[in-house]
Amino acid sequence: GERRDDKWMGTPIGELRRSPQCSQPLPSLKPAHNHTVTVKTDFLRDGQAPVPYPTTFRDAWDDVTVKMPCSEKNLFPVENQDGSMVQSRWELIQTALGEGFDSSLDVQDAILRYNAAHAKRWDFTALNYLCTQGLEDCEVEHLFQSILPEMAKLAMSAPRLCTQPIPLLKQQMNHSITMSQEQVACLLANAFFCTFPRRNSKKSEYSNYPEINFYRLFEGSSHRKTEKLKTLLCYFRRVMEKRPTGLVTFTRQCLSRFPKWESSKTQLTRLHITCEGTIEDQGYGMLQVDFANRLVGGGVTGLGLVQEEIRFLINPELIAARLFTEALDHNECLIITGTEQYSKYAGYAETYRWVASHKDETPRDNWHRKCTEIVALDALKYRRFLEQFEPEKMIRELNKAYCGFFRPEVPRQHLTAVATGNWGCGAFGGDTRLKALLQMLAAAEAGRDLAYFTFSDVELMRDVSDMHTFLVDRNISVGTVYRLLEQYYCSVCRDCPSSRPDVSLYGFIYEKLCSTSTSPASERDDDIT
Ligand code: AR6
Repeated sequence: GERRDDKWMGTPIGELRRSPQCSQPLPSLKPAHNHTVTVKTDFLRDGQAPVPYPTTFRDAWDDVTVKMPCSEKNLFPVENQDGSMVQSRWELIQTALGEGFDSSLDVQDAILRYNAAHAKRWDFTALNYLCTQGLEDCEVEHLFQSILPEMAKLAMSAPRLCTQPIPLLKQQMNHSITMSQEQVACLLANAFFCTFPRRNSKKSEYSNYPEINFYRLFEGSSHRKTEKLKTLLCYFRRVMEKRPTGLVTFTRQCLSRFPKWESSKTQLTRLHITCEGTIEDQGYGMLQVDFANRLVGGGVTGLGLVQEEIRFLINPELIAARLFTEALDHNECLIITGTEQYSKYAGYAETYRWVASHKDETPRDNWHRKCTEIVALDALKYRRFLEQFEPEKMIRELNKAYCGFFRPEVPRQHLTAVATGNWGCGAFGGDTRLKALLQMLAAAEAGRDLAYFTFSDVELMRDVSDMHTFLVDRNISVGTVYRLLEQYYCSVCRDCPSSRPDVSLYGFIYEKLCSTSTSPASERDDDIT
């Protein structure tokens, strides 16, 4: 039943579907033409480390796979007496990382040994600060005596752990990669030590990919960097203490067919809306939206510290996506299933801080993945407020959200609710009331309910809930709402002389729907065009 409360409105959250309760049984895990599985699937046992597949390292150095630091093609030029020659970069990495570290300067020296070209540009102020001022003495000692050497070992085990070439998830590909959490940890240890080749310059062949090497995390004197490093080092400490034994799946989903928004007769689905809680805490078991950048993870290795970056810090396995996920196009999203939360945090942006290690009790599915499904959806960034009401832009956001929510081949009763909120409305400058409506329409077309977290905005909670109730009570379809949005653009936004509309979107919708007809609700829908 519908209920009104100080803190939430709409459908009680307990009535929305979550995994694993609502999920359909998974088919057995096996590789396919559109699914790379980097472990032996017939060797999976609860609580035991998955076995890499194939058994020995298969080298690939081409434009469809990740170039690995341990590839024998990973070479760098050296000057010898008899002219110039090349040398194995992996050997140099092993030498540099194998010598142990007494201070952050040793870490810096090691990293710069095999990244000599960047020695002048890379700066390690944040790392040095953390190790000299930001941690307790005993923590520093543990870091240098145990955590960092273990991380170095893990990084160097790449040819034994990450044996199968990792396909690049390029634009317009539908492809999944399933790997073990241990393999992900190995990749992230390599990212920490900045060993991935060809990934240190914007002009490289990977210019359309996010940054993976962590060198930006170490630079500058922002307080943000200290807290980011603490969060990531918490992950590494946990993984060094006890290797996680599960799997994680990264799926690039690309759609070529989208709903006909203007003529859709689809009815809205249910909404739970609350001004308390977060997507990651209260949205457990739901499809959780990552308010993403088209380069997934956004500024996680740099200065960014809003919703997406925070999620990538507390669930660091997400960061591995940056290694192989090309910039998202308009009709694409990235779905990540199975990542674990390792840290608790407080604050946001400038006030963000790492609080403590987090024990993630989320159950696992039959593929040994945590039942945590996250979808990276990049909204459009608006510089002018009125732009977002242009039909083209609204369609783009509808399609993007739909791409994230839609699951071909999953019957409706097995679909979890979507846990979302002010997508595109912080750093990207969108309007919360418009985006809430657009997400409602997309969720309806995808056949899913919505759990909406307003991030303490009480007024927004009331407005969106009232609008949802109003539309549902009158059986207003997706198409009708969409046409009203277009009308709003034409009558209010298109020729608006100021930078903000002088009629509110919701006010406009109420007025139109109340004035058009007094016929019964079921017929009323068709009258509005
Ligand atoms: N749960 C629910 N709502 C939240 C949470 C949370 N954990 N965190 C923030 N919000 P923003 P964008 C609300 O700015 O505008 C990153 O750099 C809060 O109201 O992160 O889509 C990406 O990499 C906040 O203002 O998302 C992109 O480059 C609002 O969600 C860019 O930011 C929007 O969060 C995306 O910016």
